[in-house]
Amino acid sequence: MSEPTPSQAFEDAFHGVAERHERIWMFISLMLLSLLLAGAAFFVVDAYGVVVKTTGYQTHPQDAARAGPFTQSGLERTGPNAYSVHMLAHLWAWTPSPLHVPQGAEITFYVTSSDVLHGFEVQGTTINMTAVPGTIGAVTYTFQHAGTYNIICNEFCGLEHQNMLGRIIVDPAHGA
Ligand code: CUA
Repeated sequence: MSEPTPSQAFEDAFHGVAERHERIWMFISLMLLSLLLAGAAFFVVDAYGVVVKTTGYQTHPQDAARAGPFTQSGLERTGPNAYSVHMLAHLWAWTPSPLHVPQGAEITFYVTSSDVLHGFEVQGTTINMTAVPGTIGAVTYTFQHAGTYNIICNEFCGLEHQNMLGRIIVDPAHGA
């Protein structure tokens, strides 16, 4: 081995410095990546706590379609002018539909899905919630006007998503 020439010595020293800088920057980018990952995970967990307003009780997605309140289609009277209905979203329809409800009554919808995520939106109202498999959401609404309202699925759920329509018929109140 001969003595390194001055330019070789410079190159060796340069590589030493470059390698150290590469290690430092690799460490910094790994730290940044970990921070982003932790941030994303935190955001998802946090968002899940906010988005879904649930009743606090849950159901197995398949059980919802087989047994329990979601298989009893129709209104249940819960008070003098209050009703509840269990609305099941599934590929690609709403049960029950068409649903008759009385005008001016307080209707509580309990909503779940037996398969994938669906969007429960009733056109012309403020009802807009996600039907989450395994979780039962609740929304209360009073229809002030008689007429026919469309239930539309506003979350993409597969091939027939665009045809996933339901119907709520608000019957005029007696003696009104
Ligand atoms: Cu159900 Cu889109």
